[in-house]
Amino acid sequence: MEDEQLIPQKPVYVYQLPVRVWHWVMVPAVAVLIVTGYIIGKPWMSVTGEPVTTFYMGYTRMAHFIAGFILIIATLFRLVYMIFGNRYSRELFIVPIWEKSWRQGLWSDVRWYLFLDSAPREYIGHNPLAQVGMAAGMVFMAVIMLTGLGMYAQDSTQPIFRPFLAVLDFAYLIGGNGQELRSLHRLGMLLLVTFVTVHIYMVIREEIMGKTTLVSTMFSGYRLRRH
Ligand code: HEM
Repeated sequence: MEDEQLIPQKPVYVYQLPVRVWHWVMVPAVAVLIVTGYIIGKPWMSVTGEPVTTFYMGYTRMAHFIAGFILIIATLFRLVYMIFGNRYSRELFIVPIWEKSWRQGLWSDVRWYLFLDSAPREYIGHNPLAQVGMAAGMVFMAVIMLTGLGMYAQDSTQPIFRPFLAVLDFAYLIGGNGQELRSLHRLGMLLLVTFVTVHIYMVIREEIMGKTTLVSTMFSGYRLRRH
């Protein structure tokens, strides 16, 4: 019987440790926030008894706020890390629309995903379409975080949250009120749910149909070209 051989490949280090940690911290935090946020917006049961003993909505809000502050702090660290990280760490925040080759790559990605091209262009980091999707996800997150902090500041007596009352002022400035923040926060959730759905679909699709590793890359940091 012929000896089988593994062909050595040269992996490229793409996602540095802080990027990977941030990604995997986001997963449970966003999951908790979506579920608890939905319950806060549409409580699905009315509990009998003293609220101080049952504390049903209290625990729901507590979980929402703990996950919310983990999300905010982790994302702030991630934002600062783009200054120190490698070039792939900036892809989520800086979209080079001014580069012609990038715009051509974007068009080529659209053709590949519409099954109009038989092979995709290869990238080590995100492809341009993925980059647009990721940057949009970051915008949704920014809206959610700011409106969340604006609502939180309304109820908080802590001076640290006072600056976020500016978000409420902005809501009034555009002709709305506190309810505007709530609606924008909820819209942010719906957009983020869409993002997560598309994100997971695209990752699984690329893992099967593309030529490089994806899921293992977010664990190990290394990207491999498959045959
Ligand atoms: C992935 C991130 C998040 C999602 C998906 C999310 C989702 C939601 C949803 C759906 C609601 C109910 C809105 C409604 O009344 O219809 C809500 C409420 C709220 N969220 Fe978030 N949220 C997120 C992050 C945050 C963050 C970072 C904060 C900041 C502290 C925050 C603070 C709040 C506050 C203060 C409320 C109102 C709670 C209440 O009225 O009892 N959220 N959230």
